[in-house]
Amino acid sequence: MTFDALKPHVSSIVKNEDLNVFEKLQSICSLLHKNLDAYDWVGFYFANYEAQTLHLSAYVGEPTDHLTIPFGKGICGQVAESNNNFVVPDVMAQDNYIACSITVKAEIVVPLFVEGKNIGQIDIDSKTIDPFNEDDERFLEFVNSEVATLMNGVDINDILLT
Ligand code: SME
Repeated sequence: MTFDALKPHVSSIVKNEDLNVFEKLQSICSLLHKNLDAYDWVGFYFANYEAQTLHLSAYVGEPTDHLTIPFGKGICGQVAESNNNFVVPDVMAQDNYIACSITVKAEIVVPLFVEGKNIGQIDIDSKTIDPFNEDDERFLEFVNSEVATLMNGVDINDILLT
């Protein structure tokens, strides 16, 4: 499915009053995983600024050992500090990378801002080499801007796996 075709589905999940916030995040992960060929693992991490760690929330794909990631470590940890999108065409070329599975070839991480604060991120792993471009970045920025509308008043601890 195209990004433009997926956008209204993302918005309707966000607006669905029958789902709690975790269920909405889970549904968005499933939607992207199911409809985008290169999206083999899709998950949301949220930041604990006191502990300087990221924590896994909803995800779809192979289970990962990396439920908690320190700021600065791996692609995710670097995005927690840089506040910038990080597109990795080939994970083998990265020194500061945390491998979740040997089958992963590429990764994209896009920060999630609420009122200008980087509160977490969406993380996508792909088994295909170099599959992501600027259209993926714009689409994932859209997804995160929709998710941001859900986050006011949410206690992050209520939507984490650990
Ligand atoms: N590869 C990530 C770790 C998270 S997994 O992809 C689920 C990283 O380097 O930060």
